[in-house]
This record gives sequence, C-alpha cells and structure tokens, in this order.
Amino acid sequence: MYQVPRGTRDFTPDEMQKRRYVEENMKTTFTSFGYGEIQTPTFENLELFTAKSGDSIVEEIYDFSDKGGRKLALRPELTAPVIRFYVEKLQMEPKPLKLFYFGNCFRYDRPQKGRYREFQQAGCEIIGADTPEAYAELIALAYNILKNVGLKNITLNIGNLNIMNFMFTKIGVSKDCKKELLPLIDKSQFEEVYTVLCDGGVNKEKADLFIDIVQTSNINKIKDFIKKDKSAVEDLSNLEKILHLLKNSLKINNYQIKMSIVRGLDYYKGLVFEIDAPILGAEKQLCGGGAYDLVSLFGGRDTPTAGFAIGFDRTILALDAEQFSFPLPKTDVYIIPVNSEMIEKSIEIAQQLRKEGVITEFDLLRRGVGKSLKYANSKNSEKAIIIGPQELEKDSVTLRDMKTGDQQLIKIAEILSKIKNH
Ligand code: HAM
Repeated sequence: MYQVPRGTRDFTPDEMQKRRYVEENMKTTFTSFGYGEIQTPTFENLELFTAKSGDSIVEEIYDFSDKGGRKLALRPELTAPVIRFYVEKLQMEPKPLKLFYFGNCFRYDRPQKGRYREFQQAGCEIIGADTPEAYAELIALAYNILKNVGLKNITLNIGNLNIMNFMFTKIGVSKDCKKELLPLIDKSQFEEVYTVLCDGGVNKEKADLFIDIVQTSNINKIKDFIKKDKSAVEDLSNLEKILHLLKNSLKINNYQIKMSIVRGLDYYKGLVFEIDAPILGAEKQLCGGGAYDLVSLFGGRDTPTAGFAIGFDRTILALDAEQFSFPLPKTDVYIIPVNSEMIEKSIEIAQQLRKEGVITEFDLLRRGVGKSLKYANSKNSEKAIIIGPQELEKDSVTLRDMKTGDQQLIKIAEILSKIKNH
C-alpha cells in the first residue's frame, strides 16, 4: 500500500468545497482593497531563498538538483518569489503596486496538527508605499480577511523590529547574544532570556527592565525607555499613527502592542504583526507579516515593501474548531430513469437543466428507484425526477421533494419553473 508522504494531505470533495469557499471569500476581500492576483512558479532557484538567510535555511526547505544540474527549491514562502518577479518584470508599474496570491508552500518542518510539509498560504505584498496609512490598511486587510471568512475569536499583535533592535543596543547586547535571544523572545521564554542576558554581561537591573519592556503593551513605558533616540522615537511615533488609524478609521480596536514579535524570517525590518486564533493552541498563528527589505538585494531600485501571509490550512482548522457551518455540497436535481428505455430522455432532460445552471445528476448505474433515491440523499439532492414510460407518454415526469417525500406529476415543459420556484 502506498501512503501520502509525511506532512502532506489529500482532500475529499467536502474538504475541497470548504477550501474553495474560503478561498473565494478571501479573494473578495483582497480585491475590495484594490489588490490584483498573481502567480509564481512552485519551484525557484535555491539561491533566491539563501540570498538573505544564508545556507542554514537549506535545512528547512526542499531543495534538489534538476537534470541540468541547476540547484532548485520548492518555495517555502512567496515573498521572495514575488519580489523576484517584481524586480524582473514589474518595476515600471505605477506605485503602490498591490499584489496578492494563493500558493502551496513546502517546509521541512516536523509535522503535527496545523504544521505540514506542504501547506497553502494566502498572502499579499504592497510595493512602493510606507506611510502609516499604507501599513494601517495592510494590517486591516489581514484582519478583515480573517473576520470576513467567519472567524469569531482572533487576536492581533503589532510590534516594531527597529525599536526592538534599539533596545538590544541600548542595554549593550552583542550580535551573538542577540541571535541566541531572538528565538527565546519569540517563544516568550523570558526566564531563559534573563539568563542569556546576564551571561552575556548585561547587569540585572537592565535585564529586568528589558524583559519588562519586551512584555509590555503600554506604549508610554516604551516611550520612557527609548527617550530621545531620534530614529526610535520616529519609529514609535509612526507606530502610534498606525494604531490611531486602525482604531479610529478602520474600526479595529482589539489589538495589542507586542515588542516580542521577532518573526522567523530574516528579511523583516520595522513594522511586524501577527494574528492568532487562540482556539488552535500550539499552532495558533494564522498570519504573519510586516515591512521588509529584499528589492535591493535582488538587484532592484530601492523601494519600500511590506506584506503578510495567512496560513490557509490553519484558517480552516480554526473555522472548524469554532464550529463554523460551511455551505455543504449539494445536487439540485437527481434524475432516475425507471428502465433502460428511459435513459436517453433522462440524459436529454439533465442536459437541458444543466444548461440553465441547475446542478443535475442522473443515475449512471441503472439501479432501482429505491437505491437511486438513497444515493440522491447521500448527495444532498433537493429534488428527484423519476422518469417512467406511462408518465412520459403524457409528456410528464414525477417530481419528488427529497426532504418531505412529496411527489407530483408535472409536465416536462414545467420542470425548470418548478425547480427554480423552489
Ligand atoms: P510565516 O509566518 O513564515 O510568514 O508564514 C505565514 C503563515 O503561514 C503562518 O502564520 C502560518 O499560519 C502558516 N504556516 C507557516 N508554516 C506552516 C506549516 N508548516 N504548516 C501550516 N501552516 C504554516 C511568511 O511566510 C512571510 N512570507 C509572510 C510575509 C509576506 N511577510 C511579508 N510578506
């Protein structure tokens, strides 16, 4: 027996119906903000992903050599591919350029619920705008997408990596020490952060203060800490403008400031944000994004870039956990010929109904009426049409309501109006 590779999944028609429903809903929100959809290849040159992160990233991705000896990688995310596309072909487009995408990603992760080796992202990038309003709108877009698909309980956290870096400098943390600290801060392991800081030569008072600021959601405390550093003050003031717009104009007020957002990828700078679904437990992060730098690294003319990606699979898990009722797949009409002489007429009627947009199936296995009705039920059929010789002689068929079991003789010419009326 063959099995799906570890960390990958098959999807049934019911699951695909859910996925397509969520995808369509997300697309509507992306387009309502003026974003245009793009697509990039599933694999890229490996270098695209090592350029910023270095060779250590190779541990986490699916890389391979093709028959021509080229080093390639299945994309672990889409930001680098989108910026590659931008630098290659889209630099002349009017700014801001707002692009969205759906795509499968591949990471050599340890699989568990909500963490897969092949998963889907829904994301976007905005190129050429770094005003507070551009960032506020970006965060609102991510938040609205998740709300519009039907999620009830999500939390939004917003941070800033420049302020975080300033904090490291201010208490005198070395580069190596910082590398060790980032994953600990990301996981909120503050006791370990304290130990690493003290081992790295930071005095206890400063270490305590640092941990306090990293955990605070009080902007005034952060202000006090950064005092007069010009660039940090500017970053904080922009952050305040973003928060003001979110609350007052975009009507999103359940956010938290969270300086401990450090993000796993190496290209971020400045604004960062994450949206979680607490109901999912360990793998609760639904969305991550922020401002980043890749354009100049890829040889383009410098321009600001920001974006986010939503974990599509986790969004579905969260909707399921909140018991969201997805629309079920259904058949409008199931046609049952009572004998083989009725097959041609049945197909003809089925085809006419499909032309009118009615979802129509007919019995392909020449089963009896009883078994066919059972199958029609399993396909959530609303109506059944039973076609027999006596009825057909009178240009009529039997229309059955699958819920009530009521049956009536109707003229073939009336089928469409009867169904549409329903
Ligand atoms: P990321 O945080 O690495 O960011 O991934 C975004 C989202 O993808 C996560 O929040 C999570 O929901 C989902 N995700 C990540 N890994 C897995 C996995 N193994 N299984 C299932 N879901 C997963 C990025 O990828 C950035 N490119 C986002 C971005 C766009 N930043 C700027 N623009």
